[in-house]
Amino acid sequence: MAPQLPEGAVMYEVYPRSFSDSGDDGIGDLLGATQRLDYLRWLGVNLLWLTPFYPSPLADGGYDVANYVGVDPLFGTLADFDMLVAEATMRSMGIVVDGVFNHTSDQHQWFVDSRSSRNSPRRGWYTWRNPAPDGGPPNNWISVFGGSAWTYDETTDQYYLHSFLPQQPDLNWESPEVRQALQSVLRFWFGRGVMGVRVDAWDWTGKDLQTFADDPVNPDYDPAIDHDPYHRLLHTNSTRLPRLADYLRALEEVAQEFSGRFIVTETYPAGRAELGSEYRAIFDQYTLGLSTPFVFGLMWSEFNALEVGRFVNRVQTVLRVGEVPMYVMGNHDSSRLASRVGEPAARAAAMLLLTLPGLPVIYAGDELGLVDGVILPHQVRDPAAKQHAKLGRDPGRTPIPWTVRRPKAGFTTGTPWLPITQPSAMSVEAQLGNPRSTLQLYRQLIAIRHTESSLERGEYGPISVSHPDVFVYVRRHRDEQVAVLLNLSGYDVRFSTLLDGGKRLLSSELDMPASDISLRSARLRPWEGWVVRLG
Ligand code: GLC
Repeated sequence: MAPQLPEGAVMYEVYPRSFSDSGDDGIGDLLGATQRLDYLRWLGVNLLWLTPFYPSPLADGGYDVANYVGVDPLFGTLADFDMLVAEATMRSMGIVVDGVFNHTSDQHQWFVDSRSSRNSPRRGWYTWRNPAPDGGPPNNWISVFGGSAWTYDETTDQYYLHSFLPQQPDLNWESPEVRQALQSVLRFWFGRGVMGVRVDAWDWTGKDLQTFADDPVNPDYDPAIDHDPYHRLLHTNSTRLPRLADYLRALEEVAQEFSGRFIVTETYPAGRAELGSEYRAIFDQYTLGLSTPFVFGLMWSEFNALEVGRFVNRVQTVLRVGEVPMYVMGNHDSSRLASRVGEPAARAAAMLLLTLPGLPVIYAGDELGLVDGVILPHQVRDPAAKQHAKLGRDPGRTPIPWTVRRPKAGFTTGTPWLPITQPSAMSVEAQLGNPRSTLQLYRQLIAIRHTESSLERGEYGPISVSHPDVFVYVRRHRDEQVAVLLNLSGYDVRFSTLLDGGKRLLSSELDMPASDISLRSARLRPWEGWVVRLG
């Protein structure tokens, strides 16, 4: 079957609470996002992924859904959503929504029914087990957010399973009724004009619901260097079982009923030793060609030529024609890209992301080079931060600064739900007025990606280079070839390649006009990258 993934698109992740507030409650909303569509069109992105805006008690920022087919009043109404889709469509942009299908909120009617009695018709929609002989949890599985993955419920004297917060009980995907109910949810959103669904926490959906065997202890876990107690166990029985392939098929079948729709899964490779090559096994589960996984490795590897080159080369080596990786360098679950790699390196990171194969994903605010916000203890909102001080995700979720004025920064007329602490020079307003800004770099990179067919859909080939800090690759489509050269170090580097040269379309510094150059021997400034059309 011909792949129907929107190859050639650039996706942009909107965290609605932090994107733009049309009112004064300090929380971004759907109308606010609609008002920013012209900005996004100017930037050049064509798919907008919105993280959850559904009715929710917000125990986990909306990843605890109480109703899959509605809009929380905080974010607006279904009519606002329809308008967002219509306005986006007019600008040739598609909307992608979040499918939080591993779990619901404990306030969802399905769970309310399930918990009410052992005889409830919805009892089997979740996983209920008797206590262990000592009265404790049924097995040793632990929650991503800390503690046991089981919570005891007095009403029926049983434990229920939750891979995340106790307020996020896991759905039982072995139940055909659950799968059908989730298929109906997909139909609802595809029917409203949504182009894609990003399926949350996909790995946790595939767990051993037959034997409930304990997870083995991770022999490499060292609490002195790893502060995340979730890594104490290897989650071989509670995540990533091969059943995922069947579950995915249930979702893909719905995508197939519509035309041009697709599914992206939040998938993490199991091991990190051979990081990259695991993607063969992952892609093997995506058989209908309508879905693809996020590729997260660049969020964890050291940002140097050796590590980055090794990871990308491994992933690209295992991919087959038609498979579309979705490289991610930032999202709402991590530290800001510019804080992770360092501000001087963030421009090189942008060039990498937007010149790799597949469908790149930009996290809103990374196009501004935003750094982590400063969150004081009394301002913490993320439940994960409340469990383990080190894991807070709020610094990467602070609102977008649209204007230079503080403290509201054009984001709201009220008080922003998280403070905006980044310098005014990082605002959209300031960067629009600066021809060399990070924002202008993202815009130019996206524009070049859309005009050079080799960048949009070309093959990938690594190129050897004389210097260990330089990462070079070529993208090739028919007789068009583009080379990308990245100095992933804070030093000036002189290097040579076997490439002849061509027309340099862009330097990440945005301070040189397009010109013909030789690549036999060249020099890159600290963290500088070039896009060069060969021949
Ligand atoms: C995913 C989401 C994250 C959420 C978790 C539980 O990892 O990206 O934000 O907390 O799933 O739904």
